[in-house]
Amino acid sequence: MNNMQPDSTQHDDRAGVSALGGLGAQARGASGRLLPEIWMQDGAKRVEQALARLLCSEDNSETELMAAMRYATLHGGKRTRALLCEAAGALADTPAHMLDDVGAALEMMHACTLVHDDLPAMDDDVLRRGLPTVHVKFGEATAILVGDALQAHAFLTLASLDAPGNNRIALVRELAQAVSAEGAAGGQAMDLSLVGKHVELDRIVAMHRMKSGALVRASVRMGALCAIAEDTAHAALYYALDRYSACFGLALQVVDDILDATADAATLGKTPGKDAAAQKPTCASIMGLQAARQFALDLLRDAGEAIAPLGPRAERLAQMLQRAKAYLVKHAPCA
Ligand code: IPE
Ligand code: IPE
Ligand code: MG
Ligand code: MG
Ligand code: MG
Repeated sequence: MNNMQPDSTQHDDRAGVSALGGLGAQARGASGRLLPEIWMQDGAKRVEQALARLLCSEDNSETELMAAMRYATLHGGKRTRALLCEAAGALADTPAHMLDDVGAALEMMHACTLVHDDLPAMDDDVLRRGLPTVHVKFGEATAILVGDALQAHAFLTLASLDAPGNNRIALVRELAQAVSAEGAAGGQAMDLSLVGKHVELDRIVAMHRMKSGALVRASVRMGALCAIAEDTAHAALYYALDRYSACFGLALQVVDDILDATADAATLGKTPGKDAAAQKPTCASIMGLQAARQFALDLLRDAGEAIAPLGPRAERLAQMLQRAKAYLVKHAPCA
């Protein structure tokens, strides 16, 4: 477990070049505007370096569990949760090395939900991030254990942060809640229970808020919690972040539902048309594609309005919305 401990020497060495202040300076164009492609690429790279560092122990000769965990985490993905965490961390002067590790914990947990989501007993998917799913490549039993171990390593990463105990407990609680029966696990159970049923939109929205929205909310809140206490002095800030992440998280899953119905395997890196084939009710199937697309755009606009009172320090959070909108417009243009 020693490899999970933060290396404070390394962090001190890196602080001058990768603390958010330094990164902000590099990521600004001549006009002083923060360049989204620069900080997002840099953030994704740093979280991948953190994942490689945190998941680096060797398998013994009989197993390939750690290799499968690295396979599940290090090959692609948009890194949306880690970048949301970084964007919220930029609301305060949060050390970049802390955000890198919290972002890595979030991406481990996200990967855990994806590996389990793809299992034969769940969505039975063979393609993820353009590669064979973990159970296809390593077998079903290993895929189950990959999810278990990634979840444990996510919490271990948070518990080992170079931060005060109450901070670490707050982060652990936040992540646990996001994947609990009230969060992703409960949402996934609901997803399976609705197969083949005709349901009202509000049930789908409730399911989406749990199965994917809860981890998005945690990503934003955990970035903020690294350096901003959730006390009465910051109640308005956390309220704004909650409204932002509720809209963003729902939009993310609505976009996923639309693209499942419209995009090809090369774009998705996943099998297209899975929701219809499995008779899953989605926002797209209930509302129709155009209405679902407009719903997602409205949610992204509402998320932007929610953080407007936070001013320029929320610039990265606003740019995450522009990124999500550009992704939707590019891959699901208006019919
Ligand atoms: C996919 O999430 C599953 C959902 C919750 C919609 P992402 O679209 O963020 O997946 P990656 O991480 O980019 O592969
Ligand atoms: C799953 O939703 C959300 C998770 C909690 C992993 P989907 O089943 O729609 O995700 P994809 O389309 O397989 O990525
Ligand atoms: Mg699913
Ligand atoms: Mg799925
Ligand atoms: Mg989907």
